[in-house]
Amino acid sequence: MTRTILRAAGLTVSYGVGQRKRRALDAVDLDIERGEVLAVVGGSGSGKSTLARSLIGMTVAGGSIELDGETVTVSAASRTLQQRQKIGMVFQSSSVAFNPRHAVEAILNEPLRLLGSRGAFTSATELLGMVGLPPALLRRYPWELSGGQRQRVGIARALAVSPDLLICDEAVSALDVSVQAQILNLLTDLQHQVGLSILFISHDLSVVSYIADRIAVMRDGKIVESGPADHVLDRATHEYTRRLLDASL
Ligand SMILES: Nc1ncnc2c1ncn2[C@@H]1O[C@H](COP(=O)(O)OP(=O)(O)O)[C@@H](O)[C@H]1O
Ligand SMILES: [Mg+2]
Repeated sequence: MTRTILRAAGLTVSYGVGQRKRRALDAVDLDIERGEVLAVVGGSGSGKSTLARSLIGMTVAGGSIELDGETVTVSAASRTLQQRQKIGMVFQSSSVAFNPRHAVEAILNEPLRLLGSRGAFTSATELLGMVGLPPALLRRYPWELSGGQRQRVGIARALAVSPDLLICDEAVSALDVSVQAQILNLLTDLQHQVGLSILFISHDLSVVSYIADRIAVMRDGKIVESGPADHVLDRATHEYTRRLLDASL
């Protein structure tokens, strides 16, 4: 086990061709330590989701990625199953990816089956417990759940393969403030109980301030400021960060 779970260097993604070619991600360097929450914050279009997609290998990117001390290919297709399972992903609307004809039990059993008995979790019930949901929800369908419950199921599904790193891309952005707080508490619990590392992506600095150990600020595909959370929140040096702070008050 290495201390640094993820190390990315020079990550670059361009969209469009010719005159219209634009860098959505411009030589981004990123380190995430085991058990820490790194928040990436930035305005809409700053490249946060592109960063997430490039880390899980879902977009064509230049640069290099080391996962748990091992160099992995930038494209997911040529990563081994074991390498792919080191990163779990939670989206703003995780439920969009759920099969609407599947009840929660089947949604959770699918990744569990994939892993066989090698994972830390053995049953859908156990996974539900990890995210604070009762076993009674196993028979429910996604559309019968509240927004918060659906995000918890999304987190449970991401946890099914026992990832070392969870990437949450705007995972609480669609939720009411009180539900946001519950999900943020859940993520912090998981960080401490399972030693999970979390890359927490959000446009909202006030949300990020609840959960981040370190903060990286993105603008125009670049990280313009980064450091310990209290440092970035209290003594932001970049004008752009200060504007994000003002907007989140
Ligand atoms: N599939 C795509 N094709 C073309 N441009 C894209 C695509 N995805 C994102 N972009 C552009 O890349 C930039 C970064 O987008 P994104 O990573 O989604 O930002 P964020 O998640 O911070 O809002 C934006 O200018 C966006 O328009
Ligand atoms: Mg985004």
